[in-house]
Amino acid sequence: MMPQSESHPITSATACAGPSLALTKYWGKAKHGINKPATPSLGLTLTPLQSHATVSLAADGHEVTVNGVVQPLDRFAPFLKAAAKLFDRPVYFKALCTNSFPTSAGLASSSSGFAALALAMSQLAGRDLSHTNLSVLARIGSGSAARAVWGGFVEWPAGAAHARPLYDESYWPELRVIVCLVHPGCKAVSSRNAMTQARDTSPYYDAWVKESACMHHGALTALASQDLEQLGDIARHSYLRMFGTMLAMSPPLVYWVPASVQLIHLAQGLRKQGIGVWETMDAGPQVKLLCAAQDVDAILCRLNEALPELTPLVAQVGAGPCLIPSTTV
Ligand code: PMV
Repeated sequence: MMPQSESHPITSATACAGPSLALTKYWGKAKHGINKPATPSLGLTLTPLQSHATVSLAADGHEVTVNGVVQPLDRFAPFLKAAAKLFDRPVYFKALCTNSFPTSAGLASSSSGFAALALAMSQLAGRDLSHTNLSVLARIGSGSAARAVWGGFVEWPAGAAHARPLYDESYWPELRVIVCLVHPGCKAVSSRNAMTQARDTSPYYDAWVKESACMHHGALTALASQDLEQLGDIARHSYLRMFGTMLAMSPPLVYWVPASVQLIHLAQGLRKQGIGVWETMDAGPQVKLLCAAQDVDAILCRLNEALPELTPLVAQVGAGPCLIPSTTV
């Protein structure tokens, strides 16, 4: 860490970040530490989906808004406390966050939001934090944010305080993710509550954790050889087993809506016809389709036939968070 400059002139800082989509899932917290994962995960940072965070210091109390809505502070308290330690005096933050895509809907907006916040706050403090330290800080806000401080493909080992980059955004240029927003509202149960409940009540949880290490190892091997079929297959196992823990917990949790299930079958049908497309989902009903660029048109055509009301977004692997100079904000 660089020392904080005494004549540091910055009064506000803005950063942006893309969300981290998990191919193998972080689902379950280890018993000790804030957001330490029970399972390893492999994420890729998506573009053009983006979160922006502008932070400045406030006189008497923290204030966080997301898309103009003031947020309850309990959700942000541990992160704000950790970020305040970047300063050499007690501080309060005013943080204005916006997302270019639906918030708290199962599209990993918390990963990009906290990654952008961590970078903006370190800039405001006049600190030049390493990516690893940014990952530690962002993780305190939201586990998946530990991955979103890097672009490209990022691994977060089980039990680790931070993630680590594997390959940058130029590694697999043909890879695409078609994001299907099948249900626009916020999810009723947050991922943090759901994963704690899964750990505490699901009879399948221990098996999930045990299997995760194996799936993750397979995903790393598939990624190393850019084997999309293998990677897609493992990504399916990972999300379906994750949802298995939720279906079995008390009370059971079903995030899917009919269109989520329709898309699972649609992808299966396309694979049978030789079109490589593998779905994944996170804590919510939205479906993300993993495929190669050459198949995007055929998949979009099929999506349009099956779900004409859907507006799919074609995303790809993007760069990590960046600071936005205040003159251009
Ligand atoms: O970062 P959180 O607390 O929102 O949890 C994210 C959990 C999943 O999105 C379901 C999986 C993942 O690894 O991102």
